[in-house]
Amino acid sequence: MSALIVRKPVIAGNWKMNMTCSQAQRYMSEFLPLISDVPHDRNIVLAPPFTALSTLSALIDNSSVQLSSQNVHWEDSGAFTAEISPMMLIEHKVQYAIVGHSEPRKYFSESDEQINLRAISAQSHGLIPIVCVGESFEQRERGEAERVIRRQVEQGLENTNLQKLIIAYEPIWAIGTGKTCEAKEANRICSLIRKWAGSNELIIQYGGSVKPANIDEIMSMSDIDGVLVGGASLEAEGFARIANYQIE
Ligand code: PGA
Repeated sequence: MSALIVRKPVIAGNWKMNMTCSQAQRYMSEFLPLISDVPHDRNIVLAPPFTALSTLSALIDNSSVQLSSQNVHWEDSGAFTAEISPMMLIEHKVQYAIVGHSEPRKYFSESDEQINLRAISAQSHGLIPIVCVGESFEQRERGEAERVIRRQVEQGLENTNLQKLIIAYEPIWAIGTGKTCEAKEANRICSLIRKWAGSNELIIQYGGSVKPANIDEIMSMSDIDGVLVGGASLEAEGFARIANYQIE
């Protein structure tokens, strides 16, 4: 008899380049009471800008919120201007690190090799990398989506421990556009990613225009184990509703 696999969903908010420390403080004073009754069957994660990490780490004690960074470098220290070391993150109780988001892939030409190095570095310091993958609109139109995502998965995950890693499937055309990928299609891609990665225990999130109105449907899908939320995580009440998702 095979053991029952339980994948604990991870609901993560990626604030991107938003929120000063004082704004973050105000957000948390509204957000924390709204999630105090959230069931313990899910993890709630916030990824603020680096400057707000210490503000948040002081506020999340005795709450169910965990912290993520929006990046992590593969070296512990050195001449890497504008980068962040895993050592600097763990000091602030950070437990996750987003790597390979489509924005640095696009604006700073991040490669799958660099993303893989970041994921390995995160794991070697006890951080759980959230490795983002996803196709552009043009790639989907040309029928290349599966090939592109498979390459990102295979190269991004090389030599990593899949039990300590999360994948976020984020179709680029759905990010910040209001166009959510249809839940069944997102689920189909997530199940393919699970197959390519070769692990039934792997946690796979969906990201791209997740909002209070679509969270319950997304979370009811069999292969979607959480969400990575951008815009809708900037508003405390809306993100609290997302964290409080309910499945029929
Ligand atoms: P969005 O962003 O929710 O604003 O579409 C998602 C992301 O970029 O992680």
